[in-house]
Amino acid sequence: MENARLPAAVKAAAPPQGAAADWTIPQAWGDYTPAEHAMWDKLFARQQAMLPGRVIPAFLEGLDILRLSRPGVPDFDELSERLHKATGWSVVAVPGLVPDEVFFEHLANRRFVAGRFIRNPDQIDYLQEPDVFHDVFGHVPLLTDPVFADYMQAYGRGGLRSLEFGAMHWLARLYWYTVEFGLIRDGSGLKVYGAGIVSSFGESVFALDDASPNRLGFDLRRMMRTRYRIDDYQQTYFVIDSFDELLRQTLETDFAPLYGELAQASDLTTDAVLPEDRVLHRGAQTHGSAAQS
Ligand code: PHE
Ligand code: FE
Repeated sequence: MENARLPAAVKAAAPPQGAAADWTIPQAWGDYTPAEHAMWDKLFARQQAMLPGRVIPAFLEGLDILRLSRPGVPDFDELSERLHKATGWSVVAVPGLVPDEVFFEHLANRRFVAGRFIRNPDQIDYLQEPDVFHDVFGHVPLLTDPVFADYMQAYGRGGLRSLEFGAMHWLARLYWYTVEFGLIRDGSGLKVYGAGIVSSFGESVFALDDASPNRLGFDLRRMMRTRYRIDDYQQTYFVIDSFDELLRQTLETDFAPLYGELAQASDLTTDAVLPEDRVLHRGAQTHGSAAQS
């Protein structure tokens, strides 16, 4: 599996030494070693070979717009210049996971926070914290899509609002099941768009082709009730019809009453299928253990 950034874990604290008040650090692009650049190239080549036909076309267009196929770890300043021209977003470096509020604040201002470090050779298929490959290759291409770009900003604003209700853990599930592990059904069939999938060699096949996971129609409240796994491939994926629909529904729904309802409802397990679900594929759930996180 590929780990995926969630606005999580780190509680409000002072930024570490060397970081600015908003937790950003210089990417120090000149400090990447040849081995680090080579690691990026290796990961990039694998995904580039894997993704055509599996990923939503807007992702591949984003790679082009951003010229991400050039060798080496991208320089965030150059990347931001191109991205800014497309949708007004930029990419900033941070030391690792940042406090929720800091994360949301950046998104709400169209800044995507990315780790600067890259995984070691022994972590090629698995690592605990999101690295620059996951963050940049996984997340940034779709930020060139105007509708998805608006969704990410709206999510940041919604995140700030969720803190007032103590509701972040529900909203985090929405991020998980869309931004990180979302599937989309376009004219030519089921495609991946979530960053945790597109940056993962194994999950980019598993999410679409394997008989094990559930594939269910998008449903806001249902997704926010559903737990997720951080230790293995997902047991359930949720499928949207378009970014327009995703943006429209999340913008038009006032989440405050939803949070009230969620407080009364029980959590759903990672493999649950309910009578009211729109089931595209009922998973055999044969992969891995059934451990819950
Ligand atoms: N409409 C949500 C609210 O009322 C905010 C939101 C927008 C959340 C888009 C996620 C994505 O809080
Ligand atoms: Fe992520």
